[in-house]
Amino acid sequence: METVLSGIRSTGNLHLGNYFGAVRNFVKMQDNNNCFFFIADYHSLTTYPTPHDLHNNVKMVLAEYLAAGLDPEKSAIFVQSDVPEIPEFYLLLVMNAYVGELERTTTFKDKVRTQPENVNAGLLTYPVLMAADILIHNADKVPVGKDQEQNLEMARKFARRFNHMYKVDYFKDPEPYNFGEDLVKVPGLDGSGKMGKTAGNGLYLIDDDKTIRQKVMRAVTDSGPTTPNSPVSEPIQNLFLIMNLVSQPETLSFYKEKYADCSIRYGDLKKQLAEDIVTYITPIRERITGIINDEAYLRKVSKLGAEKARASASKTLKDVREIIGFKTF
Ligand code: TRP
Repeated sequence: METVLSGIRSTGNLHLGNYFGAVRNFVKMQDNNNCFFFIADYHSLTTYPTPHDLHNNVKMVLAEYLAAGLDPEKSAIFVQSDVPEIPEFYLLLVMNAYVGELERTTTFKDKVRTQPENVNAGLLTYPVLMAADILIHNADKVPVGKDQEQNLEMARKFARRFNHMYKVDYFKDPEPYNFGEDLVKVPGLDGSGKMGKTAGNGLYLIDDDKTIRQKVMRAVTDSGPTTPNSPVSEPIQNLFLIMNLVSQPETLSFYKEKYADCSIRYGDLKKQLAEDIVTYITPIRERITGIINDEAYLRKVSKLGAEKARASASKTLKDVREIIGFKTF
C-alpha cells in the first residue's frame, strides 16, 4: 500500500468546487492507501491569526473534512501542531536549505510583492516545513494543486540532498498524486471559470438554505435560446454542469430539452437547481454543525490521529537523528 499525505490549509471553508474536486477523491483514496491528512496550523502562523481564530479555524476545517467523509479509522487525521516531531525535523532540514533557493520560490516571491511590510522568515522557510510534513512519513504520493507544485518539488530536492549528503538511501522521492480524470472541475455561478474562494463565486457547504437560493438566483445567465438546438452558452452550460452533480438525471435532461426547444425559463431552472443544491448540502451542513458542537468527538479524533502520526513520525526522526550523528551519552 502506498502512503499518501495531504496537507490542508487551516483557513477557508469548503465550497462545492473543493467538495466535488479534491475532497471526494480524498474520501475514495482512503480505501486503498495508507492515508495521512493533517491540518497545517503551524503554516498559518505566517499570517498571525488571533489565538481565538487559530483554534476555531482548525476546528472548522476538521469538522468539514470529517463531515465530507474523511474517516479517522481508515486514515490518520491529525493536527500538525499535535506532532512535535514535525518542528524538530524541520529544524534538521532547514540546515540543508539554501536561502537563495528559498528566495526564488514563486510563493515566497509573491508574498514579497504583495505584503512587503511583513516578509517573515516563516514565509521564507515555508517549503522546508512542508517538506518536513511530507518526508517525516516518507510519503509516496502527495495530492497538490498547481500552486503547491513547486513546494513539492522542493521537498523532493531536500530528500535527495539529505540522501546524498549522508550517503544513504533513506528518503523516497515524494511524487504528486494525480487525480487525472477523477478530478471534477466545478464551475462558478458568475458565468465563466471554476468555482473558487478568490473568485467569490462559491457555494459553501456551510451556506444556509436562504444563502444558497440567493446565490443561485443571482447566477449569470444569457438572453435565452432563440433558435432550436442552438449551442449552449458558457453560463448556462455551467448551470447544467452543477445540475449534473446535484440533481436527478431526469431533471437535467428535462431542462436540456427545454433549452433545445427554446421553451426554457431560466427562473425555473434556477429555482430547481437551488432546491437540489439545498437538498444535497443540508445533510452535510448538519453533520458539520453536529461535529463542531461535539468537543468530545473532536478530541477523540484528533487524539487518535496524533497517535498514528506520531508513531510514524517518531520512527523517522529517530532514524534521521542517528544518520546525522546525534548520540546520547
Ligand atoms: N502549503 C499547502 C497549502 O497551502 C498546505 C500544506 C502544508 C501541505 N504542508 C503540506 C500540502 C504538506 C501537502 C503536503 O495548500
